[in-house]
Amino acid sequence: MKKTIRDFDLKNKKVLIRCDFNVPIKDGKIIDDNRIVTSIPTIKHAIDGGSKVILFSHLGRVKTEEDKNKNDLSIVAKRLGELLNKEVLFVPETRGELLETTIDNMSYGDVVLIQNTRYEDLEGKKESGNDEELGKYWASLGDIFINDAFGTAHRAHASNVGIATYLPSGIGFLIEKELKELSLLDNPENPFIVVLGGSKVKDKINVIKNLVNKADKILIGGGMSYTFLKAKGVNIGTSILDEENIDFAKSIIEDYPDKIVLPIDVKVTKEFLNEAPYRVVNVTNILDDEMGLDLGDETIKCFNSILETAKVVFWNGPLGVYEFSNFAEGTKKVLEKASVIPAKVILGGGDIVAASTELGYKDKVTHASTGGGATLEYIEGKQLPGIVAIDDLV
Ligand code: 3PG
Repeated sequence: MKKTIRDFDLKNKKVLIRCDFNVPIKDGKIIDDNRIVTSIPTIKHAIDGGSKVILFSHLGRVKTEEDKNKNDLSIVAKRLGELLNKEVLFVPETRGELLETTIDNMSYGDVVLIQNTRYEDLEGKKESGNDEELGKYWASLGDIFINDAFGTAHRAHASNVGIATYLPSGIGFLIEKELKELSLLDNPENPFIVVLGGSKVKDKINVIKNLVNKADKILIGGGMSYTFLKAKGVNIGTSILDEENIDFAKSIIEDYPDKIVLPIDVKVTKEFLNEAPYRVVNVTNILDDEMGLDLGDETIKCFNSILETAKVVFWNGPLGVYEFSNFAEGTKKVLEKASVIPAKVILGGGDIVAASTELGYKDKVTHASTGGGATLEYIEGKQLPGIVAIDDLV
């Protein structure tokens, strides 16, 4: 058991909180603020506890000066201020006098957000390389460290593992909730149904390996299903193919023939365009110049009837190109089913959570994880360094 923010007296303390504000931004606008919204309970607790609240986060990856401009975190400070209904100070630096005097001059109950921690990657990858001096410096700015960045917990960076090394530490409410909900999958009740989609088999190999023995069925849709269909000898036309992993797909189908469920019919088109004309065909009738972009009705029915039997569902990856309204049906109708069955349903972060938000199902399932890679690594059974580094409750 890890210490949590509840285990600390925060009054008159400087509390450093690592959040994951790595949110999608398009044309200068945040297009999904879920990660900011889900960080609020921890931040409010620190404000109400009477501390100076000092927030850290990365945004994107910073390799060039241009990346710096693109990934300026001030946009998050603004949104956070709106959500908290309170001024959020922003320091456009990751170290130095301005940062230190801002913290000195804050009143207890004030909140400051520090510039993107990955600005420190531009010279010498100090953040991503968990540079000792940087971790020590950031730790010197506070009294207590709270890690609430679940999405970054699979990284051992200066702003999570580094700071935790030098301060008393605990997890925040977001990480606490993630661990509680995801632990449902450690020994899931059966029937346990896994739904996998998304484009690449590569990203899911370890998840499949780790879940295949626990799961009663693994329903495979989306781009990755075409590699499995190809492995069965089906002509997939110009559909997306993860060539390097055909053999893996073949071995899984051969070893677990009763567990792996593949599409029966799919929606195919000749162009990767929402407006392109399409038809629904049995998977054995895909033409050489056609690509599958969504599930067909028979497959949706099949997936949904299996979901009806479930006690626990874990779902990672969309079942079609949900960003195109004409090819969102599979993802939508299966999400709709997942939202009404009595099972515990966990959406495994990344694209499926974005899809569930866009299609209106995120709040209708048991848990929508804020992690992408972190959630997958948890499911793969790996230790997450950002959590390991936090003090144990003794
Ligand atoms: C994520 O979005 O998965 C996390 O914020 C981690 O980002 P990273 O993959 O750039 O480390």
